[in-house]
Amino acid sequence: MKDKMIESLDEIKSTGLKDIEGVKTLDELEKLRVKFLGKKGKLTAVLRDMGKLSGEDRPVIGQTANEIRNSLEMEINSAKDSLGQKMKEMKMKEEDIDVTISKEELILGHRHPLLHTLEELEDLFISMGFSVVVGPEIETVENNFDALNSPENHPSRDLSDTFYINDDILLRTHTSPVQIRAMKELGAPLRIVSAGRTFRFDDVDDTHSPMFHQLEGLVVDENISMANLIHTLDIFIKELFGSDMKTRYRPHHFPFTEPSAEVDVSCLSCRGKGCELCNGTGWSMELLGCGVVHPKVLEHCGIDSEKYSGFAFGMGIDRITMVKYGIDNIRLLFENDNRFLNQF
Ligand code: DAH
Repeated sequence: MKDKMIESLDEIKSTGLKDIEGVKTLDELEKLRVKFLGKKGKLTAVLRDMGKLSGEDRPVIGQTANEIRNSLEMEINSAKDSLGQKMKEMKMKEEDIDVTISKEELILGHRHPLLHTLEELEDLFISMGFSVVVGPEIETVENNFDALNSPENHPSRDLSDTFYINDDILLRTHTSPVQIRAMKELGAPLRIVSAGRTFRFDDVDDTHSPMFHQLEGLVVDENISMANLIHTLDIFIKELFGSDMKTRYRPHHFPFTEPSAEVDVSCLSCRGKGCELCNGTGWSMELLGCGVVHPKVLEHCGIDSEKYSGFAFGMGIDRITMVKYGIDNIRLLFENDNRFLNQF
């Protein structure tokens, strides 16, 4: 009996020490402690048979068992210490921040070329004393057409040209309705620009998109004439494209201005000399529409057309952006392809 117990105890000691040595985590170690030294552990199981031993054998076994318990406990404690230390080191390593490592560069976005142009235009007009106002993209038929003196049968009012929401409401087809809102709200005198999105039932091609951008301008004051209009726009165009730019005012028709004109500027590519792009004419096609505000429009907004007169203009921001940056396809402005946008 005694020999068998000694054998079992030796076995416990040797496997115990071996197991402790191979332990990798504190959890595993605790499990081992329970397995060997716990109340229901291996050592206790062996000692349960102590009662069967003779009086003289008992203390011998007892002493051996105690020695084994002590040495296993010592091993466990020192394993606990070194494991604890190891885990701490590992954790520190994991959480370590090496400030010398070069991280991937944080790429900041930038303004879209359209927005860049829009803000540049607004800034130019602000510097000439204009205020910036905003108008809604969803407009009344009244503001978009009627108040702008656009006749009932005007082709632009057609269902095939305009996105109607119902009989009275539409997506604005131009920024000109902001003129109406501004005059009604602010009265005369007045000097405003307003930029934003506009919508027309156009199929997409290289130069057309059903959504595009315009900038509208309006000046109302006493003694405003076509001369003020030309002077203002000439300064604006020279500021925008360069002082060598020439302008050409061609008579045109808009229902809300009389007289009306379209403005051409020197070809940006050859700057007026004549090249392939401008078919040798030296001119870029119309850049904007403008005119002297029709008295009917002023009167409709409650402004005395005997006392006040005004001029107005509207231009395509997409067009200007394309001309400025040499972009030949309007789709590029709306596709949000980073390969394109990153060039700006
Ligand atoms: N609203 C016109 C268009 O979309 C552009 C325009 C022409 C605006 C003459 C004006 C103007 O203010 O006076 O084609």
